[in-house]
Amino acid sequence: MERLDKIISATGKKSRREVKELIRQGRIMVDGKAAAAADMKIDPLKATILLDGAPLGYEKFTYVMLHKPAGVLSAVEDRKQKTVLDLLPTELKKRGLSPVGRLDKDTEGLLLLTNDGELTHRLLSPKYHVDKVYYARVEGCLEPSDAEAFAAGMVLDDGLECLPAGLEILSPNEALVTLREGKFHQVKRMLAARGKPVQYLKRLQMGSLKLDEQLPCGAYRPLRAEEVEALRQ
Ligand code: URA
Repeated sequence: MERLDKIISATGKKSRREVKELIRQGRIMVDGKAAAAADMKIDPLKATILLDGAPLGYEKFTYVMLHKPAGVLSAVEDRKQKTVLDLLPTELKKRGLSPVGRLDKDTEGLLLLTNDGELTHRLLSPKYHVDKVYYARVEGCLEPSDAEAFAAGMVLDDGLECLPAGLEILSPNEALVTLREGKFHQVKRMLAARGKPVQYLKRLQMGSLKLDEQLPCGAYRPLRAEEVEALRQ
């Protein structure tokens, strides 16, 4: 839920002060009723906001942050298994959202869903090298030589060439892994190649976007205008 004046000002069409005045004049309607106050809390993904009877056009694209739980597929639909789209309400499902990249079924954490194809392309394109940060818990004991191997860039036994990556050791069996690319099962494969198979994996960050710590596992929220802007940069 967000403040009405914040949602409207994020469109760049009206300042917060103007919104206050428009509300006073009864010119803003939220879900069919005159808006009561600038600080009223509404769900920007669900509410219909009209100014002088016309939609504000604040929702050209939709951007949703999902705290993906384990056990669901990063896909739009699947005939047998539950997908991340099944965690969203119907009105959001109708907007043609797709996950930006994939997390494995058993991986948790940050997943962005949007219908903004251009942003999706830029976030996933190898050209832009968008950093992804993961928390990993492994079997075995991480050592500085593992971090060195990550930093040097690895070629795995199956031929997979990995760009230099970050491995920040947090405890003997926990680390933050930073990748600039997103190849299939990459974190798991890189750590397995070091003899430290992953037991638990969670994505914490993608580019500038961080998983909201207040967002419970399985829950979603719309991105804030400034989060979308930062991703576009
Ligand atoms: N790397 C993996 O191995 N799995 C994921 O889900 C994401 C990155």
